Amino acid sequence: MPIEPTTTQTGTPVASDAHSLTVGADGATALHDRYLVEKLAQFNRERIPERIVHAKGGGAHGQFVVTNDVSQYTRAAVFQPGATTDTLQRFSSVAGEQGSPDTWRDVRGFSVKFYTSEGNYDIVGNNTPVFFIRDGIKFPDFIHSQKRLPGSGLRDATMQWDFWTLSPESAHQVTYLMGDRGLPRSWREMPGFGSHTYQWINAAGERFWVKYHFTSNQGNVEMEGSEAELIAGADADYYRRDLYEAIKAGNFPSWDVSVQVMPYEDAKTYRFNPFDLTKVWPHADYPLIKVGTHTLNRNPENFFAEIEQAAFSPANTVPGIDISPDKMLMARVFSYPDAQRYRVGANYNEIPVNAPKAPVHNYSQDGASRHGFKPADAPVYAPNSLGGPVADAAAAGEGSWESDGALLRAAATLHSEDSDFGQAGTLYREVYDDAAKARFLDTITGAVSGVERPEVTERAIAYWTAVDATLGASLRANLAAWAEADLLV
Ligand code: HEM
Repeated sequence: MPIEPTTTQTGTPVASDAHSLTVGADGATALHDRYLVEKLAQFNRERIPERIVHAKGGGAHGQFVVTNDVSQYTRAAVFQPGATTDTLQRFSSVAGEQGSPDTWRDVRGFSVKFYTSEGNYDIVGNNTPVFFIRDGIKFPDFIHSQKRLPGSGLRDATMQWDFWTLSPESAHQVTYLMGDRGLPRSWREMPGFGSHTYQWINAAGERFWVKYHFTSNQGNVEMEGSEAELIAGADADYYRRDLYEAIKAGNFPSWDVSVQVMPYEDAKTYRFNPFDLTKVWPHADYPLIKVGTHTLNRNPENFFAEIEQAAFSPANTVPGIDISPDKMLMARVFSYPDAQRYRVGANYNEIPVNAPKAPVHNYSQDGASRHGFKPADAPVYAPNSLGGPVADAAAAGEGSWESDGALLRAAATLHSEDSDFGQAGTLYREVYDDAAKARFLDTITGAVSGVERPEVTERAIAYWTAVDATLGASLRANLAAWAEADLLV
């Protein structure tokens, strides 16, 4: 290939890649060196704000193939028999910044964008089926407590545990986080969950409540805390590298995608509030129904264009799929597009990685960096008598639910077995084996030992006692033993 001459952004050849225009070889630099000025100015604008959460991540392109018939539950084209859909997936950590080590203990993000024939559908979940809080109004406070102190710029165990122990609904998710799930061996070897309850609507208009599960065909593999700490220092990009190299080598990771389906009416009387994001639906109540397989098979060619600029959002739904009355989900539906207009720009959905493969027809126009436009004679308002697009409720295939009552601020309705600590205790006692329990105790002892206010430590012991009385007692004993060992050093 012939070597092309370097040009400015406007295509004009430039005289030098290495020398600024100066008055004599050692003299002042001329401001009218357009290429020098442009090069420095472009460079200064290379970064966009990192995501406010889930800043560190990586991802790849893939395909979702339907293997089982779930058309009795949803009319969504992406889930109809025979459908194959291109996808983009991004994995991430929650609290760390762009350059933070992949193997810091954290929940891992699990986002999938399906470029369906009916528009983009995004599942923006985690590697855990529950979350720390159940009302979006607490999300900024929760994240502030997990990030850095304003003064020292350091992360701080005292504020983390202060928040968690004053928010007992966090217990179930903290039990996952401090357990083996907090340190996956790789993104390929962990599960994914939509976590929230979503709504599916079938061709007859019948509604169902569903939860998504992505089961890794690589298995669920974790690592010990000591190894994770070593890797954090030696290779901050351990997960990103693992995914990239696996795909480059043709070792394509895949996940089986299943749903739990709850009949619409069951929600009213189910033993747990099905819209409470701190709860799971035991599989014995609602077994997994397989839908298809998701495979990652293509690395990004440009990380910034395809992964950093990717905008996943729970607001991106398609006909036959909708949200549920989960307060967290409703807050997220606002939050993500708002964040992306700020982080990527008002016209972020025109960027190739976010642009749907389905046609876009509406009356949105202009704004920063808009490049798509309609024919000059296309109408710019609705209603119009000029043949512009017209909304069609049947095409939209929206869901709905019945709701009545005064406007108020209150916790969600309690169902018969709802409590903050019940499912956390079940996870600890019935899912963790003895070795996992021992690792768990070690991890919470280490985490709580960083707390610098005695009343917060006491609350942390009470919190774990409420999860499991024996665990609380062991934590108290362990903390005392660790403190004594520290004094002896
Ligand atoms: C990213 C807000 C709860 C999973 C984000 C972003 C925001 C946000 C603003 C950055 C979006 C961007 O700049 O592109 C919130 C709010 C929540 C909430 C307000 C609660 C009301 C959750 C929950 C989950 C979750 C419950 C998982 C079940 C993720 C993931 C990402 C993310 C995976 C990264 C998306 C990507 O890969 O680009 N969140 N979030 N978030 N959030 Fe949340």
